[in-house]
Formats: sequence, C-alpha cells, structure tokens
Amino acid sequence: MKAAVLREIKAPLTIEELSLAAPGPDEVRVRVVSSGLCHSDYHSISGDFPVPMPAVLGHEAAGVVEAVGSDVTEFKKGDEVVTCVSQYCGHCRECLDGHNNVCGNKPTNRPAEQPARITNGSEVFTQYAGLGAFAEEMLIHRTGLTKIPEGMPLEKAGLLGCAVLTGVGAALNGAQVRPGSTVVVVGCGGVGLNVIQGAKLCGAARIIAVDVNERKFDLARVFGATDCVKGGPDAVAEVRELTGGGADYAFEVIGLTQTQEQALGMLRRLGTLMIVGMAPAGSQFKVPGVMMMALQLQIRGSLMGSVPFQIAIPEYAQLYLDGKLKLDEMISQNIRLEDINDGYAKMMAGDVARSVIVFDS
Ligand code: APR
Ligand code: ZN
Ligand code: ZN
Repeated sequence: MKAAVLREIKAPLTIEELSLAAPGPDEVRVRVVSSGLCHSDYHSISGDFPVPMPAVLGHEAAGVVEAVGSDVTEFKKGDEVVTCVSQYCGHCRECLDGHNNVCGNKPTNRPAEQPARITNGSEVFTQYAGLGAFAEEMLIHRTGLTKIPEGMPLEKAGLLGCAVLTGVGAALNGAQVRPGSTVVVVGCGGVGLNVIQGAKLCGAARIIAVDVNERKFDLARVFGATDCVKGGPDAVAEVRELTGGGADYAFEVIGLTQTQEQALGMLRRLGTLMIVGMAPAGSQFKVPGVMMMALQLQIRGSLMGSVPFQIAIPEYAQLYLDGKLKLDEMISQNIRLEDINDGYAKMMAGDVARSVIVFDS
C-alpha cells in the first residue's frame, strides 16, 4: 500500500510503498476512502510533538472494513467506518466511568511478541496514534473505529473522526454550553469552526470568533459566529467590550501559550476556559491565582470531544444527514496523497479550513 512517511522533522513527507501485517485477533484492516489533514499531525512534522521516525501520520479517516481478526465480532468486511485516536482498554477506572477518550492504557500498539503492523521489509514504521491514516490502508485495534449510519458519504466522513468530534464535542459534552450564553472561540481552523457550530447547536446566543487571519471570518460566520475579532493582544479588550464584561465560555483552539492566556482574560465572572488546542509538549501558561478565586473561574481540558467517540460520531453523522451539522463547507479542497505536502503548506499559510485526501476506489 502507498503511504506518506515522515522521515525527518520539518522535511516533506515522502510517498512510499509499505506493507501491513495480517490482522491479529483484535485488529481490523480498513481501506481508506478519505483522510483529513489535521493540525495535530503537523505538530509531529514540526517537531513540537515528536514521534519516532519513520512514521505514517494521519488520524482523521473514513473507509471500508477489508478484513477482521479472529476475535472481532462487531465489524465485518464491507462495513463503512470512521477511525479515531481514542482507542481504549475497557477496564480502567476512566473507561468504566464512561470516559474512554482519556483511557491511560490504550491498546494502540501491537504486543511486543507480534510483528510490527507497518514495514517495508527492512524498516518498521511508527503508526501515528495507532492509526496512520495517510495511507491507502490501515490496520488498527478494534477499539479505534466505529460504524457510521447508512448514506453517510465516506469522502466527507473522515472529518467526523477528529475535527468534528473534537470541536463539536468540546462544546456539547466538554463545556455543555448553556442556551443563551456567550461563547468566544480563539482559533477558527478546522477544529475551531466545529466548536463554533457546536456552540450554535447548544443554543449559544452570541458566538465570537477570534483569528489572526481575517480570511477565516466568512467561514466562521457560515458556521454560526455572530461577531468576529482579529486575534492579537488587543483582542482581549475588544471581546470584553463586545460582551459587556467577558464571555461565559472561552475555547482556545490553537495550542499557543499566549492565546491560552488571552482566552482566560476574555472570561466574565464564573466563566469557563476550555483548552482544546494542543500546546507544544512542556509548555505552560500563566494563570492569575487570585482572579481564579475572586471571579470563580474554571479551566478545563477537552480531549477528542470529551465523550466516547463510538456514541458521538454516529450521532454527528446523523446530524449531518439531517442537515443540522455542516461538513461540506469545511472541505476547502480534495487532494491526492501525493499532494499532502502542498496541503500542509496551505494549512500553515491559512488558505484552507481542511484539505481532505480522497483515495481512488
Ligand atoms: N491568534 C488567533 N488565531 C490564531 C493565532 C493567534 N495568535 N495563531 C494562529 N491562529 C489561527 C490560524 O489562523 C488558524 O485559523 O488558528 C487557526 C488554527 O487552525 P488550523 O491550523 O486549521 O488547526 P486545527 O486543525 O483547527 O487545529 C487546532 O486543535 O486539535 C488541535 O492539534 C490541533 O493544536 C491544534 C488545534
Ligand atoms: Zn481504559
Ligand atoms: Zn486531529
């Protein structure tokens, strides 16, 4: 199978011919139909979140089940599925408590006694988050995929696996945004747009989109933003003025220390800061301790939509089919696997919401 490989930090991905092992007892082989370019993979290309190389990145995919392992009964050849990084053990306290998205015991990798999942004969390849979706096929643990409703177009469904799940879920399940409330979303990329539409689904009265790139504002409005503010140090005062003292919820959806601090500064009393963006490993942001107490603020994280994806993804797919959730508008371009480096260049230039690789069937 063909895959895009990261061999060196900050270098272009290379297209290579690789092999997948046969499915182990708990594994499923998936033919990939669509695979979105998320910023999280870019953190590994840039070195902010290093992964052992060579590596096959990508984690936002939809496809068709090709083969299942001997113990897998919940999937069969031909099932249409979406994949997710939130693989889980099913036994730990978090799993048992309904939070398998934060399972600390993920069965992401193969047991050491089994051969590697991805090789080229001589080398073994890291499989990003147990997925490796920048490839024609994936071999993944049975807990890393879910079926989607009939009629859901596979070329679009990949986005449900990360951007939609992470963004919409952060508003619906993470913050549980109250109807009538005021929400500010800092960062209007693929994930931020979904926080905006999640806040709208929750019935937020006012949704303020903040981005350094003003070209993002038209799309932010399409997804439900009522106001747009140019990012930067002045954005805090502007949001405070627009809202008459701050927002009820501020979502940071970039992963930068400065915007985490700015988002905290945009809250009104009793406000909640939601950390959704992935900040560089080891980074820290400043919190004014006394204000946390005096204004009774909250800071919370949200990972992969704060909910078991097996429940959320089929629900979000149905919302799309019912015309209540936007996906088409998020796809700026469909590309070939060979165009992946150009796709990431366009993301970093701020030219796209999402580029989606669509494989020939
Ligand atoms: N202030 C405001 N907006 C900014 C700033 C800033 N200082 N810096 C960047 N942005 C905007 C960009 O213009 C872009 O619109 O943040 C947005 C980031 O969007 P994408 O690059 O499309 O990233 P996305 O895939 O949405 O992911 C966002 O969530 O899951 C995590 O790892 C992911 O950390 C990443 C974040
Ligand atoms: Zn677990
Ligand atoms: Zn992602």
